[in-house]
Amino acid sequence: MPELGVNIDHIATLRQARRTHEPDPVRAAVLCELGGADGITVHLREDRRHIQDRDLRLLRDTVAVKLNLEMACTEEMLRIARAIRPDQVTLVPEKREEVTTEGGLDVLGQADSIRRIVDGLGESGIEMSLFIDPALEQVEGSARLGVRAIELHTGTYADSRGSAQRVQLEKLIAAGRAAVESGLRLHAGHGLNYHNVSPVARLEAMHELNIGHAIVSRALYTGLTDAVSEMKRLITA
Ligand code: PXP
Repeated sequence: MPELGVNIDHIATLRQARRTHEPDPVRAAVLCELGGADGITVHLREDRRHIQDRDLRLLRDTVAVKLNLEMACTEEMLRIARAIRPDQVTLVPEKREEVTTEGGLDVLGQADSIRRIVDGLGESGIEMSLFIDPALEQVEGSARLGVRAIELHTGTYADSRGSAQRVQLEKLIAAGRAAVESGLRLHAGHGLNYHNVSPVARLEAMHELNIGHAIVSRALYTGLTDAVSEMKRLITA
């Protein structure tokens, strides 16, 4: 059964629109847990456009489930991860001008900077995951870096329809299979919603799905706890 990591960045995005104290992602995390979230995911971006350092500190103290920190491969983030000690770090590419994370890491081109972070967190007990596109060479490159898991970028799957979506699903299936054969844990995320999540949740050995936008959007109508529990029901059905 896949676990559900709820990405609560959007709660902080709303707060930062007014640079005020509400809505508070720390309170939101409590409701996500009540709804059945197995993990809380936050992306501390270099420009601090949504999640703030204070959020991460308080979440570390209060989250009872897995805390997954998405971050770029920088020395600053390495320092923060060492100090905060999330349960898991997911390395993601980061560009200032992007609206959201646009593609996976180039594990082959960025092997040195990824290795610096992996080595830097080596003794900490923090599990490492790499956010990559569903391409076999990226899976193989990840396995060589000695990480625990890969998170397959599902954005292209989520943005396509009909037979094109089926093609994208096949890529996810192939990459997922290669990951598991290499001893990597299989995660996925980006663009997943209540309509497209089921085929991804059913991939063999799917371990964790990280979902934010769809859950936080639905929460406006139904409340966060119900939005999380409905997603959890779908992925474990
Ligand atoms: N996984 C990763 C690595 C991400 O960067 C994001 C977006 O921050 C997500 C999952 C969640 O994507 P969405 O908000 O589209 O569900």
